[in-house]
Amino acid sequence: MVAYSWGLSNLGKGDEVLVSLMEHHSNIVPWEITAKIKGFTIKYANVHPDGTLDYDDFESKISKKTKIACLSHVSNVTGVINDVKRIGKVAHDNGALMLVDGAQSMPHMKVNVQDLDMDFLAFSGHKMLAPTGIGVFYGKKEVLEKMPPFMGGGEMIKEVSVSQGQCSVSWNELPWKFEAGTPNIGGAIGLGAAVKYLEALGMDNVLSHEKELTKYASERMKECSKVTVYGPSDLSKKLGIIPFGVKGLSSHDVALFFDNYGVMMRSGYHCAQPLHEIFKLESSARASFYIYNTQQEVDRFLEVLKEFEQL
Ligand SMILES: Cc1ncc(COP(=O)(O)O)c(C=O)c1O
Repeated sequence: MVAYSWGLSNLGKGDEVLVSLMEHHSNIVPWEITAKIKGFTIKYANVHPDGTLDYDDFESKISKKTKIACLSHVSNVTGVINDVKRIGKVAHDNGALMLVDGAQSMPHMKVNVQDLDMDFLAFSGHKMLAPTGIGVFYGKKEVLEKMPPFMGGGEMIKEVSVSQGQCSVSWNELPWKFEAGTPNIGGAIGLGAAVKYLEALGMDNVLSHEKELTKYASERMKECSKVTVYGPSDLSKKLGIIPFGVKGLSSHDVALFFDNYGVMMRSGYHCAQPLHEIFKLESSARASFYIYNTQQEVDRFLEVLKEFEQL
């Protein structure tokens, strides 16, 4: 939405978009597509070998040419939490906007968009107990007001009138200007129910439950000599995601092995191939925790992990 609506109408030759190398492909590919159309430049900010953001590199790449800085709040590979407020301030001081990918932060912790002072934030419902195909796009009103619609259709217009072969169209108000067509009504009701459910649990409780499981699993994973955990060892810098590898095995074999024991995990690039290039990895296996996971389940995961020692 930001790349196509805001990007196509605001960016051109000589402009720069700054993105980090830990982004999910969904915060890289739309910029690459629109850069080909408009001729702007995309700059990539480095990530340290432990998966934390290289703040000096990110900040040194922000200049008056930068029109928008794009950063994930939390990495979907390592769980690393980024100080988006710090980056946003440098971006704003240079006249740039700040876009935050909140897909991995909103489901797990309290996020105050006004305090963080971000211009745009997006997140997906299916990572926070809601159905697929629904998400939230937040933007500052004054920025959204100036953006053209992303897509045309019903609901997003105020008036369409054809007179003597000439059509005049005016856009509806926010948020309808960005909501062409019949909305995903069922998805929106499901997302609303998920938000109420999470709020009733309390986001601080959601976060502390995940942190407890992550601490427990991380400590115990050290007992497995064939296992390498990627990402920062300082758990205060991350949320409940543990990417790892097992010596001599591909991540897909690892995930398949766990699957046989009823333990589900993701393997591959996790749609973040540039970060895996930094880690010099073909892929990784990823254990992740949410409110429905228990310590018994983590014990089961650790039991299976120990089986690799026998191979
Ligand atoms: C950090 C991050 N950003 C973006 C996305 C993309 O979300 P969606 O598939 O709902 O577009 C994901 C999901 O995999 C993610 O983890």
